Amino acid sequence: MQHDAVTPYKTTDSKKEQVETMFNNIAPRYDFINSLLSLGIHKGWRKKCVQLLQAHSPKVILDVATGTADFAIACAPLKPEKIIGIDISEGMMQLGREKLKKLKLDSLITLQQGNAETLDFADNTFDAIVVGFGVRNFQNLELGLKNLYRILKPGGQLVVLEFSYPRHRLVKFSYNFYFSKVTPFVGGLFSKDTRAYTYLNESVKAFPNNENFTVLMDKVQFKQTQFTSLSAGIAAIYSGQK
Ligand SMILES: C[S@@+](CC[C@H](N)C(=O)[O-])C[C@H]1O[C@@H](n2cnc3c(N)ncnc32)[C@H](O)[C@@H]1O
Repeated sequence: MQHDAVTPYKTTDSKKEQVETMFNNIAPRYDFINSLLSLGIHKGWRKKCVQLLQAHSPKVILDVATGTADFAIACAPLKPEKIIGIDISEGMMQLGREKLKKLKLDSLITLQQGNAETLDFADNTFDAIVVGFGVRNFQNLELGLKNLYRILKPGGQLVVLEFSYPRHRLVKFSYNFYFSKVTPFVGGLFSKDTRAYTYLNESVKAFPNNENFTVLMDKVQFKQTQFTSLSAGIAAIYSGQK
């Protein structure tokens, strides 16, 4: 199925509206379920992404689809002047803002409402843009990427972290079992929204991953695009430069 046709609730609402509702629904349990289901490995993946930005010393960073701000927080050790996180889900960001206050990062990192596909930041604003587990949820992937390209400064870096559908037969077998049985059961149990965790599996399968995604990045003008598979191919880091 096409990436944009995969939606959380399969209603007549747009994908953006359904995704926003879904994340508002699961926000209170999101961090807990995420750590439980991934056994914490997502933290190491974000660290790897941040390492890619170290040599560039970005001063102004945008975290797109920031959710509860984990990726923005992971970028703090880069010592930028400013990090802005944007998301369509106010519910996710509310939890993110509480976290930032506790960590005393609320003057460095600010979160604001925004849709990646219609962002109105000026051209050439950011030294780096990161997106963690967000692009898969975009309604129009190409439009979202085009917009991110526009607001990056020339020479600026885009780093995307996203789940992938593994290629190796054995990994695929375990992955299918885990994502089609364990994840909806555990996710549904704690969030009371089984569809959210069924959508996770469906959207990962429909997402144009690995070289298909770098081809799309090339199409919207990113240079030096590449991807690195993580943890036997269940996730990948994509990077490119403006
Ligand atoms: C799986 S969460 C990821 C949160 C965080 N980036 C992380 O690394 O854990 C995906 C987030 O993407 C947001 N999102 C989905 N589509 C978006 C869009 N078009 N623009 C901005 N945010 C979006 C959702 O609201 C949700 O908070």
